[in-house]
Amino acid sequence: MRFSREGLLVALSTSTVQAVNNGLARTPQMGWNNWNTFACSVSSALLTSTAQLLTEYGLQDLGYKYVVLDDCWSAGRDEADGRLVADEAKFPGGMKPLADALHEKGFLFGMYSSAGEMTCARYAGSLDHEEADAASFASWGVDYLKYDNCYHMGRFGTPLISFDRFNAMAKALKKTGRAILYSLCSWGEDYVHTWGGSIANSWRVSGDIYDSFARPDDLCSCTDAADPACIAPGTHCSVLAIINKVAPYIDRGLPGGWNDLDMLEVGHGGMTEEEYKAHFSMWAALKSPLLLGNDLRIMTPSTLTIITNPAIIALNQDPRGRAVQRISRNTSVPKDRYGVGETHVWSGPLANGDQVVIFLNAADADLDMSASLEDIFIMDGVGGTAAQVRQDWAVHDLWGKGARMETEDARRVLDAEGQEARRAVLKRLGWYNATEVPYAEGLRRRDPRLFGEKIGVVEKGGDLSVRVPRHAAKVFRLQSVSGEDTARKSLVRDEL
Ligand code: GLA
Repeated sequence: MRFSREGLLVALSTSTVQAVNNGLARTPQMGWNNWNTFACSVSSALLTSTAQLLTEYGLQDLGYKYVVLDDCWSAGRDEADGRLVADEAKFPGGMKPLADALHEKGFLFGMYSSAGEMTCARYAGSLDHEEADAASFASWGVDYLKYDNCYHMGRFGTPLISFDRFNAMAKALKKTGRAILYSLCSWGEDYVHTWGGSIANSWRVSGDIYDSFARPDDLCSCTDAADPACIAPGTHCSVLAIINKVAPYIDRGLPGGWNDLDMLEVGHGGMTEEEYKAHFSMWAALKSPLLLGNDLRIMTPSTLTIITNPAIIALNQDPRGRAVQRISRNTSVPKDRYGVGETHVWSGPLANGDQVVIFLNAADADLDMSASLEDIFIMDGVGGTAAQVRQDWAVHDLWGKGARMETEDARRVLDAEGQEARRAVLKRLGWYNATEVPYAEGLRRRDPRLFGEKIGVVEKGGDLSVRVPRHAAKVFRLQSVSGEDTARKSLVRDEL
């Protein structure tokens, strides 16, 4: 045991005392959820056919393991015993056969309900039915519960009221004895970031995402984390609004419990390729769950190359579990027609002593951006006192060659017919398979697919400078090349 401040933190975060204590989500959960594309058009067939494509496109082996059903699945409660009943037309035979089919393919099955009298789409909710519903979910073979916040009968307004309402389901899930990942969807209300980690594996921090990079919308009014009096977490939250909302409490995410920035919009069609790359990179580096939300049947090569970038996913699945933090924000930059324009630099430590640095350009122009090693390592010492400032750092571009799949190769994967042919193409490409080599192991082995393209070196005391296109992010992994050991590196070894 070390007694430095950081040593104590490390000891606390890795001791056997875990808040939620179900052993799940030691790294952020990954998978697919139907809501962003299909909303209420749900069925067993949609989930099993999507699971099949997750396998064929190599996504399952990259870690996308949870197939999560959202709202609109139920036909209400059984009059005799009050149990929730699945809509027979959408889910023939109920949920159990669907869970079995997904398990057979090696997936985990996610389900949805609400801590209210109704779900957001006005189906039966689980408020005051927690034990019965948790028992039903467990008996169906459910591995994950997304638990929403609509129609809560006024039971919100203080952290304790909300905590109690969501804790009722946490306790009920625990009582079933089945390992069920618990994903809160209370949109950041009642300071969920301060209590979510005690009972759940993830908690939404904002209203619903929409397919826009930066457009502000009144339906997403709660963009300022410091304003508890906001009216509507709502919907239509842009990628930028969600990033700004979570910035002050990125440190609340830890192994076992994560800030949830909402499901991914990559491949939905409303953003440019650079915007989607930035969205995916930020969600990964902020340690949000990565739940794909696109229609895999009509996926473009560009989308496939983004969601399969193993060097970006490895940031998300890094065993250290520490999100990037914003080290600078500049609002004196060109604004778009909505009055939006800002740039950010984000930085964070990784398990092997590397550092991730992201330059996010949400201004209305291409810009030169830079950060000094002093700022990049601010968490390790203010005023340039961090030992890392006195080292040279190799800079690896995580969207460069070797990390991201080439578009032509992605087209080959998509054009091949059936599982065998598609998997054969992936194999020929030497595509990363985290089932065979988990990210922690790949990182330990320094697998080049997780480290991107080396583009240069920042010398001790120097700056990292880069041109960043409008609405884009540059994502770098810095690796020490001067061999000088640091206090943090030895602590990191303790942690692993
Ligand atoms: C809320 C949630 C969404 C989705 C819908 C379903 O808006 O935040 O993620 O689950 O309900 O109705």
